[in-house]
Parts: sequence; structure tokens; C-alpha cells
Amino acid sequence: MDIQKVGVAGCGLMGSGIAEISAKAGMDVLVREISDEAIEAGRARIGKSLGRAVKKEKITEEDRDQILERISFTTAISDLADRDIVIEAVVEDLEVKNELFGTLDPLCGEGTIFATNTSSLTVTDMAAAVNRPDRVVGLHFFNPVPVMKLVEVVRTIATSDEAFERTFAFARALGKEPIAAKDNSGFVVNLLLVPYMLDAIRQLERGVASIEDIDKGMMLGCGYPMGPFQLCDFVGNDTTYRIAEIMFDEYREERFAPPPLLKRMVAMGRYGRKAGKGFYDYSGDQPVPMEL
Ligand code: CAA
Ligand code: NAD
Repeated sequence: MDIQKVGVAGCGLMGSGIAEISAKAGMDVLVREISDEAIEAGRARIGKSLGRAVKKEKITEEDRDQILERISFTTAISDLADRDIVIEAVVEDLEVKNELFGTLDPLCGEGTIFATNTSSLTVTDMAAAVNRPDRVVGLHFFNPVPVMKLVEVVRTIATSDEAFERTFAFARALGKEPIAAKDNSGFVVNLLLVPYMLDAIRQLERGVASIEDIDKGMMLGCGYPMGPFQLCDFVGNDTTYRIAEIMFDEYREERFAPPPLLKRMVAMGRYGRKAGKGFYDYSGDQPVPMEL
């Protein structure tokens, strides 16, 4: 049975994009956030993203209005009980994710799929916390969700063929290119990308070059659309720090260890674009690299 009723827990950088593309695909979307303020912030993110598409004449204003009409918001977890799938895009913290799924487990129908957008936790750690391990999957989108075609679809040893196939078909219905990934920390892409991002910070700590020149090096030398520090600020330095801690705990390899500079950035609230400051200061017309 096709997925039509989509629940999204968390409407931050990723949840807002997941809600947007699900509504754009004609689905009924219910977003759960932790407060009215967080709902308003999420609603604004979706509006800004759709506004960008209207400005670029990718969609009409009527399209935008219809998409927004398909998205409703709540702070009550129990409102997600009627969903065909619940996708969590809450903070990268296993306890928070498992508390959410644990609360939903007895409320949702037995066919409801629980999908996690985690960057680095294993899906198994979430499947172990609910009574429906056969219907727990990874559904890992990439930032910005409306733009990046890739979605990693992850199954554990307990995931049923039916749940995996329905999720794969759902990813395709969203207009994405899904790949099947094994349930290891970082799946396919982050296993490669996270060490690259952390190594750039280590290179900066060693004084090899400036923030701007390291970014320029990877864009002009390798054709990357963003340099590593622009990317860190785009992903969120708080999220990247949590990802590094989780992957280092999993693999115990130095390449995943969170660099001390990243820890200090997070301690000082320099989360990146979402905080107005990260490796760059975004308060002016142009981003200005931070002085180390
Ligand atoms: N939200 C929605 N749409 C956006 C956007 C955003 N934040 N930023 C840009 N766009 C759209 C624009 O509207 C434009 O759309 P059209 O092509 O339909 O016109 C398109 O993206 C290109 O945007 P721009 O021309 O304004 O800017 P750009 O060419 O520099 O592209 C970018 C912006 C797509 C973000 C590009 O810089 C890029 O691809 N950066 C790398 C992103 C990346 O690596 N993502 C993966 C991060 S890691 C991850 O997600 C996994 C994890 O677990 C951490
Ligand atoms: P974010 O900080 O932008 O958003 C997290 C949102 O979750 C916040 O709005 C917060 O209010 C909300 N939240 C926290 N606890 C909640 C709960 N119990 N119920 C509902 N909402 C809750 O974070 P993000 O960057 O969107 O990342 C979210 C998840 O997606 C993380 O697991 C992250 O690893 C993963 N991810 C992030 C990226 C990225 O580039 N940022 C890419 C892919 C995957």
C-alpha cells in the first residue's frame, strides 16, 4: 500500500526539507515539533525554501500555497498515531530519538514504518528500542533536502522486505535517487565525507592554510560546490560534532575523532549558518572567515 500520510518529527534544517518535498509530492504531512516557537521557525524555513523556488519560477505561487496547505503542525506526539510513516529528523541524540519512537510505538498502527534521518547512529540501536523492529528503517536525506537527489535507505537484520521495499518506493515517489546502504555508522556517504570535513579542521589547526584558501582549494582544485568549512557551517557544527563523537565511539579510529577546535566552536555557539556564525561570520553581505 502506497505511503500517503507522512509524519515528520523535527522541523529544523532537515525536517523542514523532508516535510516540503513530501507535500510537494502530494502527500499529507504532519510535522511534530517541541514548541510553538519551533513550529514557527520550521514553518518559516519551509516558506523561505518554497519562496526561493517561486522566485526562480520553478513553481507558481498557487503551487506554493497548495504545498503549504498539505503541511500541518503539532506539538502533540500522539497526533502522529495515524501516519503511514514517521520520519524522525530530531537532534542527533540516540536517547531523544528512542524516546520519540518509544512513545509512538504503542500509538501508531502496526503497519506504520519508523524511519530515521540519522547521520551516524545505527538504525539497529533504534530498532532495538521498539516492538516493531521489522518496520524500522534508515532514510538518510542530504542537505539541502529539496536539492540533493540522494537518499540512503538502510535496513537492519530485522527489517522486513515489505518495509524496506515500501520505503524505497516512497523515496522514489519523492523524486529521489535511493541507494541501499548497510546499517553501519555513517552508512555510505558520511563514512567518506565526515573524515574529510574533520581533516580540514585538523589542517586548519596545524596552520597549513587559511579557512578561505582551504575552501578555495577544494572548490577550484576538485570542483566541489562548497569548500569544507562552508560545508561544516551548512551542515551545522553542533551536528557535525555529535556525528564525530558517535562515529569515533563506533570505530575508534583517529580520522573520526572530533578536533579540539570543533569542540571549542560548539562550546562558543558557533554552530554555523543557523547561528549566524561558524567558521564564517554571516552577519554582513558576504561571509567573513573567522580569525583564529
Ligand atoms: N534550500 C533549498 N534549496 C536551495 C538551498 C537551500 N538551502 N540552497 C540552494 N538551493 C537551490 C536553489 O534554489 C537552486 O535551485 P534551482 O537549481 O532549482 O534553481 C539550487 O539549489 C542551486 O542553488 P544556488 O544556485 O543558489 O547556489 P549553488 O549553486 O551554490 O548551490 C547548493 C547551493 C545546492 C547548496 C550547493 O552549494 C551544494 O550542492 N553544496 C554542497 C551540499 C552538500 O554537500 N550536501 C551534503 C551535506 S552532508 C549531509 O547532508 C549528510 C549528513 O548527514 C550531514
Ligand atoms: P536541527 O538542529 O536543525 O533540527 C533539529 C530539530 O529537532 C529542532 O528544530 C528541534 O526543535 C527538534 N527536536 C528536538 N527534539 C525533538 C523531539 N523530541 N520531537 C520533535 N522535534 C524535536 O538539526 P538537523 O540538521 O535538521 O538534523 C536533524 C537530524 O538529521 C540529525 O539526526 C542529523 O544528524 C540528521 N542529518 C543532518 C544533516 C545536516 O546537514 N544538517 C544531513 C543529514 C542528516
